[in-house]
Amino acid sequence: MLAAAVEPQLIGESPAVADLRADIERTARSDAKVLITGESGVGKELVARAVHAHSTRAARPFVAVNCAGLPETLLESELFGHVKGSFTGAYRDKQGKLEMADGGTLFLDEVGEMTLRMQGLLLRFLETGELQKVGADRSRTTVNIRVIAATNRNLRELISQQAFREDLFYRLNVIHLLVPPLRERRTDIPDLVQRFLQRSTATGHYALRAVSPEAMDALTKYSWPGNVRELQNLVERLVVTCQREIAQPDDLPPEIRLLPFGAYRPRRERRRTVSDELYQKLLDTGESFWTLVYPLYMQREITRGNLRDLIRKGLQEARGNYRIVVRLFNMPHGDYKRFLNFLRTHECQVSFKEFR
Ligand SMILES: Nc1ncnc2c1ncn2[C@@H]1O[C@H](COP(=O)(O)OP(=O)(O)O)[C@@H](O)[C@H]1O
Ligand SMILES: [Mg+2]
Repeated sequence: MLAAAVEPQLIGESPAVADLRADIERTARSDAKVLITGESGVGKELVARAVHAHSTRAARPFVAVNCAGLPETLLESELFGHVKGSFTGAYRDKQGKLEMADGGTLFLDEVGEMTLRMQGLLLRFLETGELQKVGADRSRTTVNIRVIAATNRNLRELISQQAFREDLFYRLNVIHLLVPPLRERRTDIPDLVQRFLQRSTATGHYALRAVSPEAMDALTKYSWPGNVRELQNLVERLVVTCQREIAQPDDLPPEIRLLPFGAYRPRRERRRTVSDELYQKLLDTGESFWTLVYPLYMQREITRGNLRDLIRKGLQEARGNYRIVVRLFNMPHGDYKRFLNFLRTHECQVSFKEFR
């Protein structure tokens, strides 16, 4: 596929997004490595695609790899490729993503989730430009790619915990782009709502045409822990479910519509709503617990109580089996120990016995 994909459109007129657009243009003029940071759903991948689309590599591939979704050995072969027979299940030679991206841009999403060994392999590749397929002895290929990495983790913190290599950090972080959370650029919300509404109603027959000023007010005041992704999903759902031409506040989910009165509502109920919403989102979006819930908790966007409630919901569904919770929350099963350790460290473990 040679034709460049549809150019990624960054919606929003806030000063923050205007700055970001200027940064993207400037970044696209160089070929340096880029590190994009920001919470989940803020638009990091969109920014990476925009940099690629404005760069001289635009006609070449943009290849995205999610470093969080795969166990280490699979990620290695995903990136570097493998030769037939190099491990059980390797029935034929496989081209790696690094090779596919030759001449273009490689987007390493969730780079903070890489194991230390993978980080070492990546660093070696970045230093030499040579890639070695899994199971191949000599044959090395050299590729020419631009690397853009993204993370919602605080890499400096990971470095201090010796979970991320400092040398790799400096290699990736030549240009740093920070995408701010949606709640810090609320003036973008009406634009985003309008444009997502247009997009979603363009195909098919729907009643919904617009959002009332009162509903827009509620949307603008909500904190959007899942950022633009959450907003986009909400609009898409609204288009399908709303029977009216103009959406009113009571067409919105309670956690959004009731926000202005939130202070008067009992605490317990508010907490339950947050975990309900997160639980639903884990199931709907297929996003991993580590990228959706973990950062919210670490940044104190949600409380320990919220987290415990979420775990309870998972355990209820899984009839007290933590391994099933791991799967339910979209983590690879190898994360079982890490997940339980995390819960223990933060005193969020819920006894499975209640749910048996
Ligand atoms: N400024 C924006 N304008 C239009 N769409 C956006 C914007 N920011 C994010 N999106 C959309 O929101 C969703 C999440 O963005 P994404 O880049 O995947 O976030 P992240 O990689 O930071 O988790 C995508 O569908 C993306 O197209
Ligand atoms: Mg992403």
